[in-house]
This record gives sequence, C-alpha cells and structure tokens, in this order.
Amino acid sequence: MTHNITPWDVSGEIDYGKLIREFGVYPLKELPAVFNKEVFFRRNFVFAHRDIQRILEAIHNKKPFVMMTGLMPTGKFHLGHMLLAQQMIFYQKLGAKIYIAVADIEAYNARNQSLEDSKKIAVEEYIKNYIALGLKAENCEIYFQSERSKNAKKANAYYRLQNLLARYATFNEFKAVYGEISPGKMIVSLLQAADMLHAQLPEFEGPVPVVVPVGIDQDPHLRLARDMAAKIKNPSFIQLSSTYHMFVPGLGGGKMSASDPNSFIALTDDAKTVEKKINKYAFSGGRDTLEEHRKKGGVPEIDVSFQYLKAFFEPDDKKLQKIYDDYKSGKLLSGELKKIAIDKINAFLKEHQKKRNEAGKVLNKYLA
Ligand code: TRP
Repeated sequence: MTHNITPWDVSGEIDYGKLIREFGVYPLKELPAVFNKEVFFRRNFVFAHRDIQRILEAIHNKKPFVMMTGLMPTGKFHLGHMLLAQQMIFYQKLGAKIYIAVADIEAYNARNQSLEDSKKIAVEEYIKNYIALGLKAENCEIYFQSERSKNAKKANAYYRLQNLLARYATFNEFKAVYGEISPGKMIVSLLQAADMLHAQLPEFEGPVPVVVPVGIDQDPHLRLARDMAAKIKNPSFIQLSSTYHMFVPGLGGGKMSASDPNSFIALTDDAKTVEKKINKYAFSGGRDTLEEHRKKGGVPEIDVSFQYLKAFFEPDDKKLQKIYDDYKSGKLLSGELKKIAIDKINAFLKEHQKKRNEAGKVLNKYLA
C-alpha cells in the first residue's frame, strides 16, 4: 500500500493506521455521548486528533471555545465537503463560535484561480450549501483571506500575526513539512497559521481554546502552526486542538475530488445524474456473476455505495448492519444495494436543494 499525502496532493491507497504513526496524531476515542450521536464520530470518519482534551474540557465546563476551519473555493461542493460542514454545524450547536476562512489567497497562489472566481464559487457552492445544511448566522464569521475585516484594527491584527509568525519558522522546517516549497506556498502556510491562531488575539475573542477540524492532508499546516505558536511569546497562544477526518471515497474509490466529475456526487446533482453516477461509476464490492455473488457474498468494505450509506445516508446502526449482513451473505445484490443508495441520496438531495434555493435570501447575514 502506498500513498502520497501533502496539503497539495492526495494520491494512492490510504492506510490510516500508518498515517496516524507517520503524522504523530492520536486515535480519537472515548468521546462524550453528544459526540457519539453523530455518525461521523460514532463510525470513526473523524478518526484522529491533537489536544482534543482541551475542547472536551471547555464543553464540559461550559466555557467558550472556537471552531475554526477553512474552505478551498474551487470546483463543486460534494459529499466530501459535506463531512466537514456537518462538523462545523455540530460544534456550532454545542455553543462554539464559528470562524470559517475562504482560502482565496491560497487558491490564487497554489491553484492559479482569480479572487473573483473564488468569491463566486465560495458563495454559490460552499456557503449556500452550508446554510442549507443548517449553519446559522449567529456566532458565525465567514471571511475571505484576501479581506479579513472592514474593521481596520481587526484586519491589521490578522495580517500582522501572519507576518510576525514568519520569524518562528525556518526554511528547513517548511521543507520538512511540505517536501517542496515555493514563495507562494510559504505565504499560504503563514496565512493559514494566522487563520488558525488569530481568534485568540485581543482584537478578536482573546485567549480561548480553538479546535480545527480538517482532512488529514491538512496536518502539516497544523504541525507548522503549532510549532510557531509554541515559540512566539507576544502575543501568546493556547495551543491549537485539531481533529482529522478520512477522505470520503470517490465513486471509483480513491479520494472524492472536485477535479474529477466522475468521482463525486455534488449536492446540486439532480436525481437522474445521481442514478447514472452510482450505477455507472460507483465501485462495487459485488462478484462478477450472480451465481458467485450468491455463493461468496459481496464485500461491503470496498463497496462505494455501502460506504456512502455508512458515512451519510443510513444513520440507523441496526439498519446499516442488516444491509451489511445481507450484502456479505450474498442475499443482497450489487444492483439492489445501489438502488438503496440512489433512493436515499436522492431523497436527501431533494430536500437539501429546496433549502439551498432559499439560501440566497439570507446570504448577507453570513457575509457581514
Ligand atoms: N488549506 C485548506 C484547504 O485546502 C483551506 C484552509 C485555509 C484552512 N485556511 C484554513 C483549513 C484554516 C483549516 C484552517 O482546504
């Protein structure tokens, strides 16, 4: 099994146990009951962390905390992005203040995308879908990296921090974290560190624990930010907490990626498209012939339709177990499993898209 995972590229088959050891993160376990009500925690899609204890304590003691994360405004909003959105909404319901960075400077420097395109995509694809999924405008700050705030004191503090942090990272550290580095990537890394740390500045929330939920590919950014945070004394920081989720599998296996339309289900896909994508592209754990399938049974672990049910669309553990058992025993056929997935996905998307169409009306409450 080989994989190559950097913040700029994810490829190959992913061995999460190995990643935990390589990155030095910790398996996420023994979470409080409120966490385990959520599919993504209970079924281990969020699987690793650094310093989550500080956040659990804040929740336990009803003390303020911040959830900070970012979005890369490229391509279509798909199921992989929904996994992170669900976590934002979960923390918001628990009382966290929400900070969301639109990484338009990163898209500019690392993906050659204009600020104008980033803005359009951030609003149409990301923010409208967040709203439809249940993100509330209260206690929520969504900002663009290219324009942190109209309030000069706040904006100055954020960009000042980005610049001050530079002294606490060496070129070799950048290289060790990324393998390959360019001026644009260095700027982006420092800006992302400022994203993650600036909530604690006096101009923002003041000293407060911050949890950063991200895909595991983003951990190099966290390692660098944590190193810098530990070194800088004025301002001083409470060390960051972070959690890591797995990649939602793409239709053909591998990572769901906005750059490959045959790999994703977008939250704006219509029913026909979903049906076609699942039937045509969703990797099946079924056997080659009906006879063989009945005899040997399917392999739910590698079946992408089953994985979508597990990650999002069959929250009832007993029902999911029954689908698993029936597929494994050969009672449930591949086409039948796909049909279950298609129906569930389309039922969800129908409701979701109604809400998304309404989201435009309240957009300005989110983009203060
Ligand atoms: N680099 C992230 C991505 O590619 C986006 C991002 C920008 C981010 N700032 C952040 C993520 C702060 C977490 C925290 O998706």
